[in-house]
Amino acid sequence: MTISEQAIKGKVAIIGAGDVGATTAYALMMSGSVSEIVLVDIDHEKAEGEAMDLRHGASFVKPVDIYAGDYEDAHDADVVIIAAGASQKPGETRLELLGRNVDIFHDMIPRITDGLADDAVLLVVANPVDVLSYVTWKVSGLPRHRVIGTGTVLDTARFRNVLSENCNIDARNVHAYVIGEHGDGEVLVWSATHMAGVPFDDYCPVCDLDCDMQNREVIAEEVRGAAYEIIDRKGATYYAIGLATTEIVESIIRDENSILTVSTLLDGQYGLEDVYLSLPAVVNRGGIRRVVDLDLDEREREQFVESGEMLKEEIGKLDI
Ligand code: 2OP
Repeated sequence: MTISEQAIKGKVAIIGAGDVGATTAYALMMSGSVSEIVLVDIDHEKAEGEAMDLRHGASFVKPVDIYAGDYEDAHDADVVIIAAGASQKPGETRLELLGRNVDIFHDMIPRITDGLADDAVLLVVANPVDVLSYVTWKVSGLPRHRVIGTGTVLDTARFRNVLSENCNIDARNVHAYVIGEHGDGEVLVWSATHMAGVPFDDYCPVCDLDCDMQNREVIAEEVRGAAYEIIDRKGATYYAIGLATTEIVESIIRDENSILTVSTLLDGQYGLEDVYLSLPAVVNRGGIRRVVDLDLDEREREQFVESGEMLKEEIGKLDI
């Protein structure tokens, strides 16, 4: 294969050039894994400003074409990231954004999907991400495997980070998952957590550090409450979600078959269906290839089902 045949190809459209959209563009640009990024925003000037600012970094990164465009420019994208909509204010839950964002999605999704490439994948980032992924799937009429939510990829990273700091182990060697709702009902899967293949329950008691890691509720609160803590201090979260989104985009564009805790339409897992929730899933160029079943303990299963039922209730109230 010649160098030019090996050239990176991949177009990403980012709908919404706010903090999350712009930071995702920055992370994608730095990743060197895409060749084209178009930013679309109802405030076109804002999208233009972000694109200009990013383009001025061209000499520091691999070649990538970045510009501001319209919905039509998303039609030949490989991945369309949906980061538009209202975001949380201090103290507000993700679910409280639902009413405002559902209306925006009703108007926006058909503009993206009328004329969309047959193999494009929609990646929803806006909150509440699970319900908005469901709305996107319904309104778009696309196959389920092509509509994904960023889900708990970020919460999984936060969990790994907290364990990494407490256990003094490189976060990349901490294997742990957060599943379920990206929100207050998320589930930390302690039963599947391990260090180098050693289950956490066996690793922790013989570790050389003297800590109170046995206090799992404190850790769960730190992970679950992370966004609230950040929003209280700086008004928004965007760096880590930008990196999490980039990780998912790379797995799609590079056909990586990475396992990521993305939000997907359930079809019977733990007795739930017709609701989007996060589970570890194999992600590749087609979107979601398959969902991996975790052998949850009773409490984890109960928490998962409880948050699924609650989200189903929220979906039931929507006019979609
Ligand atoms: C986050 O978890 C707010 O959902 C966003 O950072």
